[in-house]
Amino acid sequence: MKKACVIGYPISHSLSPVIHNYWLKKYGIEGSYEAVEVKPEELTDFLLNLKKNGYEGCNITVPHKEKAFEILKDLAGKNTSDNLPTEVAKMMGAINTVKVDDANNYTITNTDFIGFARNIISHQPEFDYPNSTPLILGAGGAAKAIAFALGAMHVQNVVLTNRTKDKAEELKKLMVEKLKFKEDRVIVIDWDLKEEVLPNINLLINTTSLGMKNQPPLDINISKIYPDSIVTDIVYNPLETKLLADAKAMGLKTIDGLGMLLHQAAPAFEGWFGVKPEVTTELRDAVLEKLKF
Ligand code: ATR
Repeated sequence: MKKACVIGYPISHSLSPVIHNYWLKKYGIEGSYEAVEVKPEELTDFLLNLKKNGYEGCNITVPHKEKAFEILKDLAGKNTSDNLPTEVAKMMGAINTVKVDDANNYTITNTDFIGFARNIISHQPEFDYPNSTPLILGAGGAAKAIAFALGAMHVQNVVLTNRTKDKAEELKKLMVEKLKFKEDRVIVIDWDLKEEVLPNINLLINTTSLGMKNQPPLDINISKIYPDSIVTDIVYNPLETKLLADAKAMGLKTIDGLGMLLHQAAPAFEGWFGVKPEVTTELRDAVLEKLKF
């Protein structure tokens, strides 16, 4: 019986067990996926003994993503695959997925970028991504993953903005140095000027926690946005954020954040359990049911 888990501290809010156990059942795989609380001081031991404790690997969530990368980066070395690429982990300095094979070889990655890309492509397959101009709100971990996704999707022009402008400048540096974006094609603007650029962008991406349940609202008037734009939010609780509701009311294409969560889980599941799982409406409903509590 194959076993995997998600580790964090605290861990009770993770939706990953719902997703993976849904797939295990659906594909008739004899396996298990559980949430395990791992304290910061227990992290190294836990990660280094995954196989010994019967795990194929694990997902990693807050607050362990960066520390886990530091612990495993040399051990994982050059192990990489199309499904679980290591390059993105190195670029982000943070991981959310670990796989360990029978010979105790580690593969580490961050699947958030796959989650973002597959979610938007599956909802809007006809959109001309390479020639689009996205505006990324925020410059934290999620923004880094999304920048990686945009690079992989051959997007050339990107506008960045963040409350703390230095972090947006750092993200730009990373994009130019590590992701081959052209210096003059990545523009950083002041957080206060984000509404001004809306007529010139056509893919608006909120990567901040603003608009999430129990967080402050995202204060943005999108009335000047380019008419045929896509608006997407990584926040999925509530599923329809104010940003998405505003966009919908204007007749724009909207994509909610739940799909990113579901799609980021798929490569890990495939890596551990050997079946490429499908993201379906039924899975969405199972997760939404859990979100109500
Ligand atoms: P994650 O890994 O989920 O991206 P993070 O790295 O903590 O989380 O990033 C959170 C993002 O939300 C950041 O861009 C943050 O802006 P700062 O870099 O200025 O902190 C943004 N954010 C959080 N609260 C915010 C607020 N009240 N106003 C504007 N931006 C906010």
